[in-house]
Amino acid sequence: MNKVLVLFYSRHGATQALAESIARGVEASGCEALIRTVAPVSDNLDAQASSIPEQGYLFVSKQDLIDCDGLAMGSPTHFGNMASPLKYFIDSLTDVWLKGHLIDKPACVFTSSASMHGGQESTLLSMILPLMHHGMCILGLPYSESKLHSTQSGGTPYGVSCVSGEGFNGLSNDEKALSIAMGQRLGNTVKKLCQKK
Ligand SMILES: Cc1cc2nc3c(=O)[nH]c(=O)nc-3n(C[C@H](O)[C@H](O)[C@H](O)COP(=O)(O)O)c2cc1C
Repeated sequence: MNKVLVLFYSRHGATQALAESIARGVEASGCEALIRTVAPVSDNLDAQASSIPEQGYLFVSKQDLIDCDGLAMGSPTHFGNMASPLKYFIDSLTDVWLKGHLIDKPACVFTSSASMHGGQESTLLSMILPLMHHGMCILGLPYSESKLHSTQSGGTPYGVSCVSGEGFNGLSNDEKALSIAMGQRLGNTVKKLCQKK
């Protein structure tokens, strides 16, 4: 079975909900979804995170990236950009980049922000940039997904998103449908590319 890594950072659960919904779509495509997170980073960078989280999903390893056939990567919007724990992990990947482990693998990105116009697209683009350096094939969401035309909450052609507001109360129906569609699109693309190898 082809493997898709769904990698996220989330402080309050909104980005995690998107990750779980994308994973549902991946599984619906017939691929295996492996959900992983990254360790938090302290303000002064001197706290040592344990290698196993106290609760929730396991921390990602470089081997998870090397072994995956496709990647969905998400972060909350922090000042219009990805959050530092995810960037910190990405900045540890020089050896993965040198060996070209991610070249030609399909990838998509996702984010969550408190406000509708709080910088979702810029955060999605900030996550696409390093993935392009790794040679990944970036997938967005096409407008044939009809909810992309009408959503009053999250959902962009650059990747799926969620507007969490002042307190996250779960994904909207549009956000759920679009994130499942994104996972399915990623899984289907992985399967097509892996068949041709
Ligand atoms: C340091 C920091 C910066 C943030 N910057 C933004 C921002 O630029 N735009 C926005 O709409 N929300 C911003 N937020 C709010 C989060 O993006 C929002 O609460 C998000 O849904 C949290 O996702 P999570 O539940 O996965 O942690 C910020 C939050 C933090 C902690």
